[in-house]
Amino acid sequence: METSLGVLLSFCLIGVCSLSLYFYYIAWLRPESIRGKLRRQGIAGPPPAFLYGNLPEMKRLVMAEKARREGGGGGMKHDYTSQVFPYFEQWRKKYGPIFSYSMGNVVALHVSHPDLVKDITLCGSLALGKATYLKKTHEPLFGQGILKSNGEAWAYQRKIIAPEFFLEKVKGMVDLMVDCTFPLLNSWESKIERGKGIADIKVDEDLRSYSADVISRACFGSSYIKGKEIFLKLRVLQKAICKPNMFVEITGVRHIPTKRNREMWRLNKEIRSLILQVVKEGKGGDKNLLQAILRSASNGRIGPNTTDSFVVDNCKTIYFAGHETTAVTATWCLMLLGLHPEWQARARAEVAEVCDGRPTDARSLQKMKILTMVIQEALRLYPPGAYVTRETLQEMEFGGIHIPKGVNVYVPVSILHHDPNIWGPDVHEFNPERFASGVHGACQHPHMYVPFGAGTRTCLGQNFAMVELKIILSLVLSKFSFTLSPSYQHSPTLRLIVEPEFGVSLIMEKV
Ligand code: HEM
Repeated sequence: METSLGVLLSFCLIGVCSLSLYFYYIAWLRPESIRGKLRRQGIAGPPPAFLYGNLPEMKRLVMAEKARREGGGGGMKHDYTSQVFPYFEQWRKKYGPIFSYSMGNVVALHVSHPDLVKDITLCGSLALGKATYLKKTHEPLFGQGILKSNGEAWAYQRKIIAPEFFLEKVKGMVDLMVDCTFPLLNSWESKIERGKGIADIKVDEDLRSYSADVISRACFGSSYIKGKEIFLKLRVLQKAICKPNMFVEITGVRHIPTKRNREMWRLNKEIRSLILQVVKEGKGGDKNLLQAILRSASNGRIGPNTTDSFVVDNCKTIYFAGHETTAVTATWCLMLLGLHPEWQARARAEVAEVCDGRPTDARSLQKMKILTMVIQEALRLYPPGAYVTRETLQEMEFGGIHIPKGVNVYVPVSILHHDPNIWGPDVHEFNPERFASGVHGACQHPHMYVPFGAGTRTCLGQNFAMVELKIILSLVLSKFSFTLSPSYQHSPTLRLIVEPEFGVSLIMEKV
């Protein structure tokens, strides 16, 4: 009896020791070995703390910057890097444009040198995938959908989904996008009437609703009301998930039934069954994005069990990838136009000339050059996607640097967009004129302009987004003139994307 208890205890002890060693290996030894390989090639970086890496320092610098602004050190600066990523500014000064840092046990390589940015963003190898930092935290939002998947699984999804977003297909969605603007335009008109010709309007949520309506109608067609229900649940899920969970990231353990996990599982289950219900009901001719994706998926290599997950995960992905980014870009555009009445007047005059009293259509949108320049400049100053992220799925070489397997490569978009060597001395100013001859005319190195990412993983919704943005902005400009409200507080902040922390309010009148 005593012997068997002793054996059991020994086994337990060996088990605990092995687990501790394994934990120590994944939490410290493995990342330290990667950092060592980078250090030996001259790539330095801030020293990481055990378990959390540089996250505590990053948090501290962000809080200090926030306190500085709250103490009156803010003001309107278009260069958001110093506010949102003060740690990058500090580390770049100390270590140069290529350095390494750590988030938990994930080793990141910061790359903002033009030559290396080019090599990385244009690399077509499947061995350079999407970064996995926070992948486990974000799993319930994106699943194995196109945004987060890698290798053959990604290539196959891209082949099926991308054609649905080609410009010719998007042109066919102009009418539905125009229809979606009516609730917003009517609501702003009523507010102005109630305010006897003038109103202070907070635009963010209205633009979000517009953008969610567009995606919902495009994805779900006639079942779009049910689509809205799905998207409302997805938003609740997003709020439950937005904080990184280091324990889950490091250990991969997601199955502990905590209150938060149970809530997430319940929501996820509901969302999945709602999406599949809509898909089932929609069979038989309804022309919408989800049906098109499903048709292509059913014709391909995906077996019956994974077709459901394919549709559910990509439906969620398209909603997240496509709706907030576009809404936030429209918000930044209106903020900048509110600040710059001369550009507002130029864009409005162009809309009037191009449309000449006719309803907006694909042809008129194509002729809106000034508006395109305004959007491009807004995306340069306020790119909602803060980084282009990649992960080396095997050891790779770029510009003479051997990057070990498992490094998360971060190309910080706002730093590239605010580099005076690339854009000139007026880099922090709103000057849409720089895009008069397109991106190639605007800067020396076009690969340094990456609001939609770059290379094989570039945003597949960019045509969709540009058309949607032109529609909402041209209709707003044709109906209203506006200035930035004195209540506006400039505070770009990183949630999943970079957005105005306190929203954007405009003083609006009818034109
Ligand atoms: C102004 C609006 C938008 C911005 C700024 C934006 C930005 C981005 C960025 C930076 C990426 C990552 C690219 C890379 O890693 O190289 C991306 C990927 C993606 N975007 Fe967008 N996006 C926008 C709108 C949309 C819309 C409207 C949709 C769909 C309706 C969409 C769908 C996607 C998808 C599916 C991916 C993943 C592509 C892949 O990994 O193959 N995006 N987007």
